[in-house]
Amino acid sequence: MKRMMVLLQCMLLTAFAAKAMAASGELQPQQWQPIEEIAIAGDIPEFRGMPISPELPVIDPVVAPNYLDALAPATFWSGMLTYSFFGMIAVLSLFVVLNGKSKLAGGFSGNKVDRWSGMDIFVHWLGGIACLFLIATGLIMGTGRFLLEPNMGASHWIGVINSSVSLHDMMAWPFIVGWLVMVIKWMPKQMPESCDLAWFGKAGGYLNFGSFKGQHPDAGFANAGEKLWFWTFAIGGAIIVGSGLVMMFPSLVETKDAANLSLLLHLVCAVILGAFAVVHIFMATVMSEGGMECMVTGKCDENWAKQHHNLWFEEVQKR
Ligand code: HEM
Repeated sequence: MKRMMVLLQCMLLTAFAAKAMAASGELQPQQWQPIEEIAIAGDIPEFRGMPISPELPVIDPVVAPNYLDALAPATFWSGMLTYSFFGMIAVLSLFVVLNGKSKLAGGFSGNKVDRWSGMDIFVHWLGGIACLFLIATGLIMGTGRFLLEPNMGASHWIGVINSSVSLHDMMAWPFIVGWLVMVIKWMPKQMPESCDLAWFGKAGGYLNFGSFKGQHPDAGFANAGEKLWFWTFAIGGAIIVGSGLVMMFPSLVETKDAANLSLLLHLVCAVILGAFAVVHIFMATVMSEGGMECMVTGKCDENWAKQHHNLWFEEVQKR
């Protein structure tokens, strides 16, 4: 009887193992696509490590050779996305350890100045939170195939990549609305001023050593660093939205080359905007004492306004 039970257990185990092996045989994206594959060659699904199913209308199936030269393998883009995002976090963390934060020289005064409206705050967080989701899911889409899938196994990876792609497509819409309203509404406040070059020359007053220490360069409503972020966000955002829409609706373009160009532009802008978004969040949360309350309450401390936006504060006083 005991022998019969052991035999039965062995048979059951063998049956389960065979079933598991058969199932894992169905889900092996890395077998379908070798890792060195050029992202362009098989359109976006292959870049994600998904089965080959060309989604683009192949009216002109010939891909110009210069496109293939310009587009590096998917591993290159995976590295670019990872290093630009996590590398920037590492560099800024090191910077704050060596340099320290930018404190308010006179401390908080307790007097508040109106800076952003309720509508400004709403659109900032609508676009900003959507952007954070886009960065997170975009990182998974661009790098997960090499960094996550080998550690989690093919069947879990399929779930992760499918949810990331859906979330990425979903978050595009609040991002587009937030981006559009922020760009149109805030553009007049972000125009170049004569004090901008001097602001860069003094590193915005954020360096706490040598002759830079204690400097508070002139700035209007937006300082030169914020303007650089705004215009990168405005122009890079336009390209990333346009190219993203082409990938979502491939029939918007006629040829495979145009679709591949969209993927290339999307990746370049993702690298730039991802790294700059890290700088922006770091400046608002860690580096600039008193900066964060602007986008929470819409008001800033009088001493923060005097130290970081003196020309704007003088104008506000005159009103
Ligand atoms: C946790 C994330 C974020 C925090 C804490 C944050 C914080 C802030 C703060 C405090 C300001 C106002 C600065 C001032 O009054 O001078 C601001 C402005 C701005 N934010 Fe964000 N932000 C975040 C994410 C984002 C993201 C992801 C985007 C892009 C979609 C974005 C786009 C902007 C733009 C374009 C401005 C106006 C330019 C500027 O003043 O720098 N923010 N943000």
